[in-house]
Amino acid sequence: MTLRIGPIEVDPPVVLAPMAGVTNAPFRRLCRRFGGGLYVSEMVLARAYLEGNERTAQMVAFGDDERPRSLQLYGVDPADVGEAVARLTALDGVDHIDLNFGCPAAKVTRKGGGAAIPARPALLAAIVRAAVQAATPALVPVTVKFRVGIDESLSTFLTTGRIAEDEGAAAVALHARTAEQHYAGSADWSAIAALKEHVRSIPVLGNGDVFEGHDGPRMLAETGCDGIVVGRGCLGRPWLFRDLACAFAGRPVPPPPLLGEVLAVLTDHARMLVDWFGEHRGCRELRKHTGWYLKGYAVGPEARRSLASVSSIDELDALLASLPPDLAPEPGVGRMVRGHSNGPRRVVLPAGWLDHPDDAAPPVGADVLVSGG
Ligand SMILES: Cc1cc2nc3c(=O)[nH]c(=O)nc-3n(C[C@H](O)[C@H](O)[C@H](O)COP(=O)(O)O)c2cc1C
Repeated sequence: MTLRIGPIEVDPPVVLAPMAGVTNAPFRRLCRRFGGGLYVSEMVLARAYLEGNERTAQMVAFGDDERPRSLQLYGVDPADVGEAVARLTALDGVDHIDLNFGCPAAKVTRKGGGAAIPARPALLAAIVRAAVQAATPALVPVTVKFRVGIDESLSTFLTTGRIAEDEGAAAVALHARTAEQHYAGSADWSAIAALKEHVRSIPVLGNGDVFEGHDGPRMLAETGCDGIVVGRGCLGRPWLFRDLACAFAGRPVPPPPLLGEVLAVLTDHARMLVDWFGEHRGCRELRKHTGWYLKGYAVGPEARRSLASVSSIDELDALLASLPPDLAPEPGVGRMVRGHSNGPRRVVLPAGWLDHPDDAAPPVGADVLVSGG
C-alpha cells in the first residue's frame, strides 16, 4: 500500500491537495497531526517567487519540523520554472515540487496559462523538463497535477500523463474533471483508471470527491490508482486524514465528531494560525474556515456570523464557550459542500491556441496568481 514519490515514502498513500489560501504551514501542521501522508503547500507563482515578493516568501516558509517540504509551483515559462525550482531546492530546502496545470480560472486560460497549457504539449513538455532538470530528480521529485482536459470535446489527460512520464516526473495526479466543469458535478473516476492504464512507470494519483475515510480505499479499488489527493473533504475536517489512515489500515473509521471535538480542533487551528501570522492576520485567515467547521451542526446563523468576523483569540474563546459541546452533526455531514462548487463555465482559449500544438513559446500575461486547480 505504500506510495513512493521518488525518494519520498507516503504511507498511507494520501496527499493533501494544494489549495490556494488554505494549505499554508499552520493548516498543513494541523492535518499532519492526524495522520501520515504528504502535505502540499499553497500554489506559489514562479515569477512572483523570483521577483522576491513578500507574500510569496511567506508561502515558501515551512514549519521547523516539517519534512518533507512539499511545494506547488505554477509557471508558464520554462526558464522561470527551472530557475525557481533550482532556488527553491537549494535555498529553501524544498523536498518535493508539484507543478500545477489544472487551474481553470478564466483570467489565466484566456491567456494560455493554467489548464490551457496541456493543450500545447510542446510547452507542457518544456516546463516539466525544466523543472525536472533543475530539481536533481533523484533527490527532489517533481510531480504534475492536471485535469481531464479543456472540455468534453478536448481531453488532454492521457497525453499529459505520458509527457510527464517521458520528461522525468516522479508521479502524476489527475483531478478528474475538465476545466469547463470547474468544480461542478462529480469527478469521473473512470478517467483515473484510464490514466493508470496509460502511465505505467510512475505512480498515478487520483483526485476528486474523496470526502470520507472509506472513499480512499474505494478510489484505489475502483481505479487501480496508487494514491489519492484530498482537497475539499478536509476543509473544516482535518481529522479526515485520521479517518483515511484507519480506512487504509482496515481499522474502523471513527464516527463524525460531536461539536465539542470540532471546536477543540478549531481552537488549535486558530492558535496555530496566530502563532504563524500574528493575531490580526491569523484571525482573518481563520474566518474562512469557521463556516466549514460548523457545517452540518445546527448552531444557528448568529454564531456562524460572529465566528466569520472573529478578530481575536479571546473573542473566539468566548464565542466557542457559548456553543453546546454535545451537539451531534446532521446525517451526511462529511459530504456537505465545503469550498468550491462553482461551474460549469465555458473555457476561453487564446485565438489559434489549438492550431499550434508544437509551439512551445510561453504565453504572455498568463502568470497571474489565482486560486484553483
Ligand atoms: C479553495 C481551493 C483552492 C484550490 N487551489 C488550488 C491550487 O492552488 N492548485 C491546485 O492545483 N489545485 C487547487 N485546488 C484544487 C484542488 O487541489 C483539487 O484538485 C480539487 O479541489 C478537487 O479535489 P477535491 O474533490 O478533493 O476537492 C483548489 C481547490 C480549492 C477548493
